[in-house]
Amino acid sequence: MARRDGGTEAAVAERPERERSAAGDKGAGAHGDILRVEHLQMHYVTKSETVRAVDDVSFAIREGETFGLVGESGCGKSTAARSITRLLPETGRIVGGSVLYRGRDVVKMSAREVRALRGREIGMIFQDPMTSLNPVTTVAKQIYESLRMTGMPKDQMRARAVELLTMVGIPEPEARLSNYVHELSGGMRQRVMIAIALASRPRLMLADEPTTALDVTIQNQIICLLNNLRSQLGMSILLVTHDLGVVNEMCDDVAVMYAGRVVEVSDTKSVLFASMHPYTAGLVRSLPAEHDTRGRLEPIPGMPPRLDRQIKGCPFAPRCPYATDVCHEVAPELEELAPGHKVSCHHALPGDRGRVTGAAGDADAGTLAHGKGGA
Ligand SMILES: Nc1ncnc2c1ncn2[C@@H]1O[C@H](COP(=O)(O)OP(=O)(O)OP(=O)(O)O)[C@@H](O)[C@H]1O
Ligand code: SF4
Ligand SMILES: [Mg+2]
Repeated sequence: MARRDGGTEAAVAERPERERSAAGDKGAGAHGDILRVEHLQMHYVTKSETVRAVDDVSFAIREGETFGLVGESGCGKSTAARSITRLLPETGRIVGGSVLYRGRDVVKMSAREVRALRGREIGMIFQDPMTSLNPVTTVAKQIYESLRMTGMPKDQMRARAVELLTMVGIPEPEARLSNYVHELSGGMRQRVMIAIALASRPRLMLADEPTTALDVTIQNQIICLLNNLRSQLGMSILLVTHDLGVVNEMCDDVAVMYAGRVVEVSDTKSVLFASMHPYTAGLVRSLPAEHDTRGRLEPIPGMPPRLDRQIKGCPFAPRCPYATDVCHEVAPELEELAPGHKVSCHHALPGDRGRVTGAAGDADAGTLAHGKGGA
């Protein structure tokens, strides 16, 4: 399994913009974590229904790491990511838990403090640049808008915008400044969105499916770019994706979500190749491995539960081959079952503690190919 930290992106010439030593950084949270999400609950509440999109989500992101949030469509990944900066629709309510950014609880911040956090500390990039970029203003104006939030004087903005476009690997950056979004290719738009997000020199980048809408070649380039930017700028990345191959290539640690809850979290290798939660093991087994000729693809049967109903017991129980009576009655807690490896399951698989023959946990290490499928 080759991690992609190398590459030839034009972006990488810049020296680190800020020294970010977790140990010496008084503002950082405990244990060098830039972000700690603890028992977060976020519901969409209307008169007719309550959708428990995020029902119990806990994870921590260390300074400088790329952290993955993965799971099937509708499991609450985007809602969890948006809750971090409280970028939610009117119906969205954080009803429990905390989001500690460098030790301060975002849930308790004033609206003004949260806006400052979005403008200066936490950058965001999304799957579809067309929905977050403005079609009627030039690339330059959109970058200047972000630079203005940092208090940069007007006369420095053009040079900085050129620098940012260079950093994200856009050729002829001077010329691109006067372009409108529709004049750029999909990959270029994604790079512009990343440049805008970088304008504030964020410490943490929230990237929600940043490669999903792109073809495989461009996906690879954007993955390389994000990896390089991370190491050059020393920022942390929260990567939301349904693609376990992308997780494998990019992430140091990963949390697997199911029905609004984190069900497994650890370093990427342990989660993908020594899975302890039956759902994670099922996800991995349902993926084609690179050069796989065994024809053993096994999709997980059934569907995730509806989130507008109270769930009794373990939400995965109706699909789980290991379910027993207790699973249908009692929701399992997220517990540390091996060092740094947390799992929410009454009958967790051996994972690192041993192999399960012919069942969950027997994926061949190092053979996931991204872009071939996912959660
Ligand atoms: N504005 C909203 N109002 C009500 N329910 C919503 C709203 N947005 C999302 N949901 C519901 O919340 C749940 C979680 O949605 P979310 O978009 O966070 O999932 P996701 O894991 O990001 O999915 P995908 O992989 O498809 O992007 C889903 O059941 C979804 O239908
Ligand atoms: S708690 Fe039970 S139903 Fe849920 S994943 Fe574990 S074994 Fe399966
Ligand atoms: Mg989403």
